[in-house]
Parts: sequence; C-alpha cells; structure tokens
Amino acid sequence: MALLEVRDLSRNFDGVLAVDGISLDVNAGEFVSIIGPNGAGKTTLFNLITGTDQPTHGSITFEGQPLLGLRPDQFAGRGIARTFQHGRVFGNLSVLDNVLVGAHTRRKASRPRNLVVELLGALVPLSGAKAEERQLRQEAEVIIAQFGERLTPRLHNAASSLSYANRRRVEIARALALKPRLLLLDEPTAGMNLTETAEMLDFIRELKTGGMTIVLIEHKLSLVMALSDRVVVMDNGHKIAEGEPEAVRSDPRVIEAYLGHKHNAEKN
Ligand SMILES: Nc1ncnc2c1ncn2[C@@H]1O[C@H](COP(=O)(O)OP(=O)(O)O)[C@@H](O)[C@H]1O
Ligand SMILES: [Mg+2]
Repeated sequence: MALLEVRDLSRNFDGVLAVDGISLDVNAGEFVSIIGPNGAGKTTLFNLITGTDQPTHGSITFEGQPLLGLRPDQFAGRGIARTFQHGRVFGNLSVLDNVLVGAHTRRKASRPRNLVVELLGALVPLSGAKAEERQLRQEAEVIIAQFGERLTPRLHNAASSLSYANRRRVEIARALALKPRLLLLDEPTAGMNLTETAEMLDFIRELKTGGMTIVLIEHKLSLVMALSDRVVVMDNGHKIAEGEPEAVRSDPRVIEAYLGHKHNAEKN
C-alpha cells in the first residue's frame, strides 16, 4: 500500500476538466515531482489532495484511509501539509506566530473531540497550558532556524514586512510545524532569484534526506532533476508521462507538451 493513493481523480469546472482521470501513488519516503505547462491541472490536483477543493469523480486514500469528505483542517490532522503557489502567510502576524499557527493546527487536530476531555482540558492548571505553549514555541524556533539567518533575526517582525522569498520560507516553516507525513510544495521557488533558488534546493534536499515524503510542483527543471525519485508530467488534466527524471526529460510527449505550449519554464 502506498502512503498516498489517488485513483481516477477528476475535477470539472463548468466544462473545464482541470484534472481528468489522474491516478497516482506516492510511497513513504519518496520524492515525486509534478511538472507540466501552465494550466495543466497541477495546482488543482494539490487542492484536491488537501481538501481545499472537491473532486467530481475519483478517490484519495492516505495511509489506507479515505480522505474525501473531510475538512481541510482534518486533512492537516491526518498529516498532510502544503504550501500555496502564490504564497499565503498571515501578513499582520509575526514570523513566529505564523509558524505557531501550523503547530496549533496539529495540536487541535490530534485532540479527541469529546466534551468531557475538552472540559477537563479547560480545568488543566494554567502552568500546564503555559508549558505546552513554551514547547510549541521552541519547536517553531527550531524549524525557523533551519533557514539559517534568513528568518531567525526577524522572529517578531510582521510577515508583511518580509521579502517575497522570506514569506515563502515562512510558509514552508508553517507547513513543517504540522509535522507532516506528506508535504506538498507548489512552486516553492517561483519568483526567487538564482541564489535563493539554490538555497531552497539545498533546503528541500535536507528535508528529503531526513526522510520526508514530498510532492513538488516545479517549473525549474534543474530542481526537479536534482531531487526527484520520480517525475509525473501533466498536460490538459492528464498524466502524459511518468518515470525516472532522465527518462521523462527525453520523452517525446513531454518535449512536445512543453514546446507546444511555449511555457515559461527555464531551459536547463
Ligand atoms: N476555481 C477554478 N474555477 C474555474 N477554473 C479553474 C479553477 N481553478 C483552476 N481552473 C482551471 O483549471 C485549469 C488548471 O489550472 P491549474 O490547476 O491552476 O493548473 P496549473 O497549476 O498546472 O498551472 C486551468 O484551465 C484553470 O483555468
Ligand atoms: Mg499551478
């Protein structure tokens, strides 16, 4: 059984088949990249896997359990975290608080929904709650420190005051604070310069080395080639190729899809 099993998944937007019969397995510890021209349906597929959107057809199971019908926070509670293509941080919250949002989502989701337990929780002495808060904070700071000096000196700055690249780092840190068993990254280097992109490559590689299961949507083929165990190519909602990076790169259907769309990927 794969960690994530997507079966015959489709999403029809008033006649536009954004995702059209996609099946996909992701095994624990695997690094899978999804590439394809703009409009291929990559982000829609992520939206379906994270409960942000609902499919018109098909099924998704995670660790053998069906996911459809759950709320997005319940998807997160199951251990699936994602970042957004256009970056979503809470601009008026500090870097630390943004990351703590991820940690709190995990804590809430892992709590049993039982009135007695919740009432007892409310009676726990304040010092207990404070100790828990302190621990979450420490964990958040450790995650933030993984970005070296990029974020730690800005721990208490509002996210809106950060550079674009730093906002994207905060978003990844928030996803990691969920302690996910599956991490979905939607174009994490979009809008980053060469130095920032190289740094992000190293960062993601570290996550992979640490055993994290990752699905990456990315236009920069240098990253895809360097990181992926397997590459899935989408076009017009379909999976048009799948395999090891080198084999996929030289697949005529892939070259055709890319050249045909004159897309904006880097030629590298
Ligand atoms: N909420 C939506 N409503 C209508 N059409 C959508 C919506 N989201 C995506 N689409 C359409 O679905 C197709 C796939 O989009 P998307 O998943 O964003 O592609 P990609 O991430 O590969 O660039 C596009 O034609 C897009 O216009
Ligand atoms: Mg997209």
